[in-house]
Amino acid sequence: MKRILIDCDPGIDDALAITLAHGSSQVEIIGITTVGGNVSLAKTTENALRLREFLGFPEVPVVPGSAGALLRPRIDAAEVHGDSGLGQVRLPAPTLPPADGHAVDFIIDTLASAPGEISLVAIGPLTNVALAVRKEPRIVDWAREFVILGGSYTRGNYSPAAEFNIVADPEAAAIVFAAGWTVTMIGLDVSRTALATTAVVDRMRQMGRLGADLLVPCAEFYGMVTADDGPAIHDACAIAYLIDPTLIEIQQAVVEVETAGRFTSGMTVVDFHLRDRAPNALVGTAIDTRRFWDLMLGAYERIAAT
Ligand code: BDR
Ligand code: CA
Repeated sequence: MKRILIDCDPGIDDALAITLAHGSSQVEIIGITTVGGNVSLAKTTENALRLREFLGFPEVPVVPGSAGALLRPRIDAAEVHGDSGLGQVRLPAPTLPPADGHAVDFIIDTLASAPGEISLVAIGPLTNVALAVRKEPRIVDWAREFVILGGSYTRGNYSPAAEFNIVADPEAAAIVFAAGWTVTMIGLDVSRTALATTAVVDRMRQMGRLGADLLVPCAEFYGMVTADDGPAIHDACAIAYLIDPTLIEIQQAVVEVETAGRFTSGMTVVDFHLRDRAPNALVGTAIDTRRFWDLMLGAYERIAAT
C-alpha cells in the first residue's frame, strides 16, 4: 500500500480526488495539508475537515498551511468552485479541529519520518511545497515521488498561457521545479480529457449518500461552469497516476515556469527535446479515460458499499 500525503485546496475536483484516494485499496492517505487557492485557506481547510469526517477517516491529520502566494496578491477560482469551494455540496460541519502546527513543517516531518517511502502529491498552488523545499532541501530526496496536478504544454485555463495552480503562485512553482527532484507534472493536456460525462454521473447517482450528498452535486455544479461534455476532474488525474501509473503516458522534459512574462506569467515552458539538458520532470501526455473512470467509479463504489 502506497502512503500518500496530499497538499490541496478543496475545491470540487480536489474533493473528488480525495474521495478517489480514500476509496482506493492501493493508496493510504496519511495526511492532508491545505493551501489557499480555489477559495481562502480558511475555507479550503474547513472543506478538508468536512470531507474527512463525511468520508470517515478522522484519524488522518488535516494541517493548514499558506494563505496566499509567496510574492503576489492571492487569486482564487470561486467562480468555478462556488463561494464555499464545494459548489452546492452541503456536508455537515466538522466536529474535529485541524491539527496543530503548519503544513510546511508537517510535510517536512512526514517525509523525514520515512525517507523513500512516502509519496507527495500537490493538487493546489505550490506555496506550501516551495516553502518546505526552502526550509528543508533534503525533502527532495526523502519523497518517494512527487506528483502535481498543474501546468500545461498546450494551453492554459486561467489565462491563455497559464493553468490555475501554477499562475496562483508562479514563484513557488519555479522553486519547486528547480529543486532537484523529478516532478511528475500531470497538466491540463491530460486532465482536460478526463470528463465526467452524463453516463459517469448516472453511475454516481446509484451510490447512495456518497452519490447524493457529494459526488453528484460536485459533478453537476462543476459541469454547469466548466466544459462541454461534462467537467474535467483535473485533480483526480494526479491521484489516479499514483494509484496506477500505467493509466497515463509520460515523457521526460525540462519544465521551467515563466514568472516575468507580460502575457505568459505562470506558463509552464515544457521542453521535450532535452538536447544536452537533464530532465527535471515527467510530463503526462495522455490518459486512458476508460480505465481512469473504471478506477474512479470502482473506488467510489467501494466507499458507497461500506
Ligand atoms: C486546478 O485548478 C483548480 O481550480 C482545480 O482544483 C485544479 O487543482 C485545475 O487547473
Ligand atoms: Ca485543486
